[in-house]
Amino acid sequence: MKINIAIDGPSAAGKSTIANILAEKLNYTHLDTGAMYRSVAYKAKMLGIDTADEENIVKMISGMDLDMKPDGTVILDGEDVSLKIRENDISMGASNVSKLNGCRVALVAMQQKICEGGGYILDGRDIGTVVLKDAPVKIYMVASAEARAKRRVLQNIEKGIEADYDAILEDIVKRDYQDTHREHSPLRKADDAVEIDTSDMSIEEVVDTIMKIVIEKMEK
Ligand code: DC
Repeated sequence: MKINIAIDGPSAAGKSTIANILAEKLNYTHLDTGAMYRSVAYKAKMLGIDTADEENIVKMISGMDLDMKPDGTVILDGEDVSLKIRENDISMGASNVSKLNGCRVALVAMQQKICEGGGYILDGRDIGTVVLKDAPVKIYMVASAEARAKRRVLQNIEKGIEADYDAILEDIVKRDYQDTHREHSPLRKADDAVEIDTSDMSIEEVVDTIMKIVIEKMEK
């Protein structure tokens, strides 16, 4: 039987990269829940809706056609927005809309529906605490803000998008604060999650550590 795996942690901790590799190894599907909040922020920007305007954001979500492809492609109302949602202003916008309870309720319901059959690895901020409260494997990935900013710079260079270290570090610190201090489902480690500090670990080391935990749980 395929289980669901929860991975949480602050922005740019490497959650998506690790989740992608794990998904391939286990033949599971990775669902990047941050990309869903980013899509909401992107559409709000396109329509000129303020990211604090809960009523109109919730209305907008109810008419939104969001297709999260298993390969990570994000199709919003028929348009491939996979790269556009990675821009720096959208990162902050996503953090802003994620404060809205109505937005969280709508996206959490979508996420739970997508992974109801098992075989998913979800990464986000509230996966272990809200979306997949009963997941048998919960990982909480952390890393220093500097290590995360360095990684994000390299990723952005690869993707050909803005890669200014100081701006990225500032954005990470600001989002960390906002994501951990919001009223609804703030980022926090679930009591039963295993914390992994990846600051000085290679991708392979992180993957191996989590694979051991997954195998142990599956054998039980
Ligand atoms: O993982 P990310 O950086 O792409 O996420 C963008 C923002 O979305 C992040 O600042 C907080 C929010 N988010 C959330 O509140 N809950 C999630 N499960 C995933 C992301």
